[in-house]
Amino acid sequence: MNTLETDVTVVGSGPAGSTMALALASYGIKVTFISRYRWTSPTLRAHITNQRTMEILRDFGIEQEALADASPQSQMANTVFCTSLAGQELGRVQPWGNHPARLAEYTMFSTTSMCDLPQTYMEPLLVSNALKRGADVRFNTFFQPFVETSDGISVQAEDRLTGAPFDIRAKYLVGADGGNSLVAEQAGLSFEGAMGIVGSTNIEFEADLSALTVHRPSVLYCVIQPGSDVGGVGMGFLRMVRPWNKWLIVYGYDFDAGPPEMMDDYATGIIRSLTGLPDLAPKITGTSLWTVNNYWETELSKGCVFCVGDAVHRHPPTNGLGSNTSMQDSYNLAWKLALVLKGTAAPALLDSYNAERAPVAAQIVSRAIRSIQEYGPIFGALGLGPDVDKDATTESIAQLSDASAKAHERREAFRNELDAKSYEYNAHGVEMNQRYVSGAVIPDRIPNSSTRDAELFHIPTTSPGAKLPHAWLEDKTNLLSTLDLVGQEEFTLLTGIEGEACVDAADTLAKRHKLPLSAYMIGRGQQYQDLYGDWQQLREVREVGCILVRPDGYVAWRSTGIASRPDEALSAVLGEVLSQP
Ligand code: FDA
Repeated sequence: MNTLETDVTVVGSGPAGSTMALALASYGIKVTFISRYRWTSPTLRAHITNQRTMEILRDFGIEQEALADASPQSQMANTVFCTSLAGQELGRVQPWGNHPARLAEYTMFSTTSMCDLPQTYMEPLLVSNALKRGADVRFNTFFQPFVETSDGISVQAEDRLTGAPFDIRAKYLVGADGGNSLVAEQAGLSFEGAMGIVGSTNIEFEADLSALTVHRPSVLYCVIQPGSDVGGVGMGFLRMVRPWNKWLIVYGYDFDAGPPEMMDDYATGIIRSLTGLPDLAPKITGTSLWTVNNYWETELSKGCVFCVGDAVHRHPPTNGLGSNTSMQDSYNLAWKLALVLKGTAAPALLDSYNAERAPVAAQIVSRAIRSIQEYGPIFGALGLGPDVDKDATTESIAQLSDASAKAHERREAFRNELDAKSYEYNAHGVEMNQRYVSGAVIPDRIPNSSTRDAELFHIPTTSPGAKLPHAWLEDKTNLLSTLDLVGQEEFTLLTGIEGEACVDAADTLAKRHKLPLSAYMIGRGQQYQDLYGDWQQLREVREVGCILVRPDGYVAWRSTGIASRPDEALSAVLGEVLSQP
């Protein structure tokens, strides 16, 4: 049997697998990733791309490429609730940071913006950049069981074109093989929750719907009409893929009765019903089935096997967290694998992947499931429910426009429930506030004083375990972010105008131990100036203090003052973070 040697084998070229390949290749690690498909994902799935993901793309230098393919945040400006696209409009939410009161914070707390980038664009972007940086990809290749060897992992793969088996030998295996992960199953990772709670269909089609959409630009038109409450997320969704002629319908089905036959006339019927255009002649370009899951792994790794993405968190698309979190998992793990493979860190550093990302997996599955449940009160305010028949549904929605005290109360209740959907549509904290507790973070005793809702609002802090806050700086000619000073597989020490001793200590350590560590002073007359005073507001340490940031942009350690021997202090901190004995 032919054998291929690499450092890391990644099963999957979806958002998780291709981010892992891109990151490892960028860090100079030999990586082979395989996919059973001929090319990237053939189905339209993820699209909402949050700021944390865009910050990661920025670190890899491909943010602008992504934005060029994406629909901008301003085009995601409404979530429209209606009885059909051409029918009665029930109300709108300004989602994804588009409400003026929220836009300020979305703009203030990141270098970049949310955007709508369909998975069919994101994956080729990640894969092609991974290849440009030296990753080895094998499409049409099926993963068979792996075998642990004395020096790593041997994956049995099968070339689907020739049927020929071959062996891929690596030091580590990353299972990024999605919601039916064989890698997670074979590794025997423990899990909670359940798969396949309800069923849903995807119908992709082309039709010019601009006359019904451009005045209320949106990526999601939520259709509440008789029949649309069965299965799925409890409503029919018309999702804009490309403005305003490429669309995806997400429509549930009765799980107990089994999936419908996705014939063109069935799909056309649903398209006409949700658009409210009985004579529309859409071009159907694809159909697929998926299930709503409520499932997460409680351990993400075993030995030399690590799982990322949907392999370890499987949940509905509410909040748009799946692909985002999958990419963020890989970003968390890749630098650790790279530093261990290069001998800079001890293998124990890899334990922090599980400690940091397993709680995130549980948290996002729970959030996505609650966001489905929170549609219940909206339906209730409209007078809808499981026992309400089709005629009563239509009548109840019509009565919402009555000039009566009862209808007035229902209108108010409906509006309140729409506003409560901020936990799905403007959950900036869910997207940006992930906090890590692990051996790769050294906590301090400074209490977190924020009383803001951590799901709704991003709470910037330099507290160890949090993402480094963004602040605009200037390097005499260019505006750049604190986030631009970190990443690219390096640790970064940030200090103020009085922190020269810290910078000297960091430079000496970096040279002596060949550590990937850079140090910068931010302040008046320094290379980086805080001209707006934003960093001063956010840094939470004095000018003489310092903040050590990991390659994934998370704070590893901070010091409010200066140690008498900064070289010794920093050496001890780095030794602990890198799990060096
Ligand atoms: P993914 O399933 O994408 O990839 C798995 C990879 O593994 C594929 O390359 C496959 O070929 C490979 N593979 C599997 N088994 C294999 C085997 N045995 N051998 C070889 N290769 C194998 N998320 C989000 O962030 N924002 C959003 O707006 C949405 N919206 C959305 C809408 C709808 C309708 C759905 C169904 C889903 C979303 N999502 C989403 C979720 C998102 O699509 C999902 O979380 C990601 O695709 C997960 O990425 P992964 O890379 O983990 O798995």
